[in-house]
Amino acid sequence: MSSTAPSPRHFLDIHKLDRDTLRGILDAGVSLKATRRIPTSARPLQGRTLVMIFEKPSTRTRVSFQIGMQELGGEVVILSDTDSQLGRGETVADTARVLSRYADAIMIRTDDPEKLRDLEKYATVPVINGLTDRSHPCQIMADIMTYEEHRGAIEGRKVAWSGDGNNVVASWVHAAVRFGFEIRIASPAELQPRPDLIEWAREAGARVVLTDNPAEAVHGADLVVTDTWVSMGDTDTGSRHNLLSPYRVDERLMERAAADALFMHCLPAHRGDEVSGAVIDGPQSVVWDEAENRLHVQKAILSWCLN
Ligand code: CP
Ligand code: NVA
Repeated sequence: MSSTAPSPRHFLDIHKLDRDTLRGILDAGVSLKATRRIPTSARPLQGRTLVMIFEKPSTRTRVSFQIGMQELGGEVVILSDTDSQLGRGETVADTARVLSRYADAIMIRTDDPEKLRDLEKYATVPVINGLTDRSHPCQIMADIMTYEEHRGAIEGRKVAWSGDGNNVVASWVHAAVRFGFEIRIASPAELQPRPDLIEWAREAGARVVLTDNPAEAVHGADLVVTDTWVSMGDTDTGSRHNLLSPYRVDERLMERAAADALFMHCLPAHRGDEVSGAVIDGPQSVVWDEAENRLHVQKAILSWCLN
């Protein structure tokens, strides 16, 4: 690559992009959703290839990126750590250099945020974060698209999280800074999000409430969100279940939210653990729209990354 080549457009985390860019991606997602079934002869990513690296399992991310790329006219190659040289110790840096010679973009799902950083450093093509232990930005872009599709602008609304202070809520915190909504997080003291994340968000002007009381977080909320108590890579010794059972989103907790509040969960879900069946399968739940919107918003992310 020549030294004057422009930097690739990476999609690494929500707070790494400015508000206008994020808004542009969401608008494009809405328009791609509306025109999905209209055949287009000029498919914008014709001849382009996305390599996806999975070091953790996936249903939604894998299928929505693959079908999204296909619908845009492009193709996908999928690698896992077990069927590639990554699993035998080849570095991410070397992998990034090689894949950049073949592919037009790289998506990675990995445990280690350092690997995402190495990919960004050594790849000469756009890199997309498909989840790390620290964040899940594609998911929260889909969630915001879903909220706005049902209820209008998310700015100024109250989003409540009840459960583990994990990678998904970290991306919600990033989004609170960029999209101007209040985020209230209820987690047990042992499982709260990293203090530096909360401090950064507050300094950046976001309204962040951190509590160990789910009823307080959910009171009057416009949106209630939760996620699994045991993320990929977590050890489930039983103590997580003991700590998190008071944070289960059930009908009683939902009653504390605004009357028209929505419920979201990135899935996969565990009915009876983090959410009751009555809530996830009930009228306030928009989890299937949320899952569908992964496809549309990721098509917009791919289009933005690949210009
Ligand atoms: N929500 C989500 O990312 O699902 P998968 O783990 O199935 O990709
Ligand atoms: N927090 C979950 C999200 C799965 C999409 C995990 O990391 O396993």
